[in-house]
Amino acid sequence: MRFLPDDDLTVAVVGFGYVGSCLAATLADRGVDVVGVDTNAALVAELTAGRCRLREDGLAELIASGLDSGRLRITTDYAAISAADVVLVTVGTPVLEDGSLADGQLRAACTELSGHIRPGQLFVFKSTVPPGTTRTIVQPILERAGMTGSVDFGLAFSPERLSEGVALRELNTFPIVVGGLDPDSVAATAEFWRRTLGVRAIPLGSLEAAEIVKLADNWWIDLNIALANELAKFCAGHDVDVLEVIEAANTIPKGSSTINILLPSVGVGGSCLTKDPWMVWRSAQQRGLDIQTVPTGREINAGMPDYTAQLALSTLAELGKDPASTTIAVLGLAFKNNTGDLRATPTQGAVAAFTKAGARVRIFDPLVDPAEAEEMFGLSLSPSLEEATRDADCLAVFALHKEFEGIDFAALPVGADCLVLDGRAYYSKEKIAVLRELGYVYRGIGRQA
Ligand SMILES: NC(=O)c1ccc[n+]([C@@H]2O[C@H](COP(=O)([O-])OP(=O)(O)OC[C@H]3O[C@@H](n4cnc5c(N)ncnc54)[C@H](O)[C@@H]3O)[C@@H](O)[C@H]2O)c1
Repeated sequence: MRFLPDDDLTVAVVGFGYVGSCLAATLADRGVDVVGVDTNAALVAELTAGRCRLREDGLAELIASGLDSGRLRITTDYAAISAADVVLVTVGTPVLEDGSLADGQLRAACTELSGHIRPGQLFVFKSTVPPGTTRTIVQPILERAGMTGSVDFGLAFSPERLSEGVALRELNTFPIVVGGLDPDSVAATAEFWRRTLGVRAIPLGSLEAAEIVKLADNWWIDLNIALANELAKFCAGHDVDVLEVIEAANTIPKGSSTINILLPSVGVGGSCLTKDPWMVWRSAQQRGLDIQTVPTGREINAGMPDYTAQLALSTLAELGKDPASTTIAVLGLAFKNNTGDLRATPTQGAVAAFTKAGARVRIFDPLVDPAEAEEMFGLSLSPSLEEATRDADCLAVFALHKEFEGIDFAALPVGADCLVLDGRAYYSKEKIAVLRELGYVYRGIGRQA
């Protein structure tokens, strides 16, 4: 059966969170008629009223222009999906303590969809899941409507692989992986991505292969960062600059590219890298396979907030400052530069370690939501960089948002011998020399003392 009409397409995006809103707004921008469906009525009301909480470059404008043009609408009403030719599902897929999928959002979405499914529709699931989920959970629930996958409707899995901060650019450029229940579902989905986003589609042999691709990507990233973090500690022990080492190490060809060691930092955060490797681990365990690289990588990365905090506290002690009577200004709370996303941010662990040592902590981040920050850190955001840094003994730079790139360190009202603790800014040697000339003490993860 052909699951994609030749004429103009109507698309439903189920789950209008971070991924769903980027995707829906991009498709609407490409001239597709899009309806977003989300069960969070407050979110739908907020977006429809023109307010977008997500700090993604260009997203608020893209959603606004979609709504204005009439090509995008957002609703809580699942009845809207009946009109769609293609239904994309991007609900949340967190994991439980034991690494297994918390499948509540996925099951609820499929149950709703089964009440509105119509013959000929193509369902494309994008949420990250353990292998087998689309076949064993999604398909049977959709078929409760009395229709059969491959016969009455198409079913595919196309993982979302964008990253926050650069999502809109990546949506228009990244190749999209497609696994399907049958060749027609694969062909229709691949054509859908080519026709709407103009990107390359990579067809795979099964739903499960596509599900695993996403997990492999994030498993690799987390483990690679763990390597970078241990390399940083190793370099620090030899008073060698880890950035210099990584840059040089990455120059030799390996496989189809070059060695590509990523960067060390205060830690790994966000909703994906902290959970997806556990999905791999748990799914392997259920088949009697003990995957050791997952817990190892996770443990190394989860230890970085404390490592970073201790680097600051020990340097303050070396400077003759009792950590218990110092003021530490944390600049950048989000887990990633140029985003306001606090989900699983490693800065929380570092702030907790500072507080435990008795330090007075101030927090500042122009991109995060103040109420969310207060709830997470138990501290109010400083109203300005000036207020945050007044008489500070340490500036812990944990995100280098664009807003922080041009900081005039000479003008900050910091205390004497103020430490700049570089947790993710990756200041260049020239910049470090300038900081030292200004009287700052500099320490970075794996950087020369
Ligand atoms: N955030 C990222 O950078 C990113 C990148 C790649 C892949 N992913 C994956 O994409 C998926 C979505 O991630 P996200 O960050 O957008 O999550 P999110 O939590 O921001 O969004 C999920 C949305 O789904 C809605 N929802 C929950 N149950 C629903 C239901 N039954 N019907 C309709 N809507 C429902 C929620 O209200 C929420 O708005 C996850 O599987 C995630 O792992 C995320």
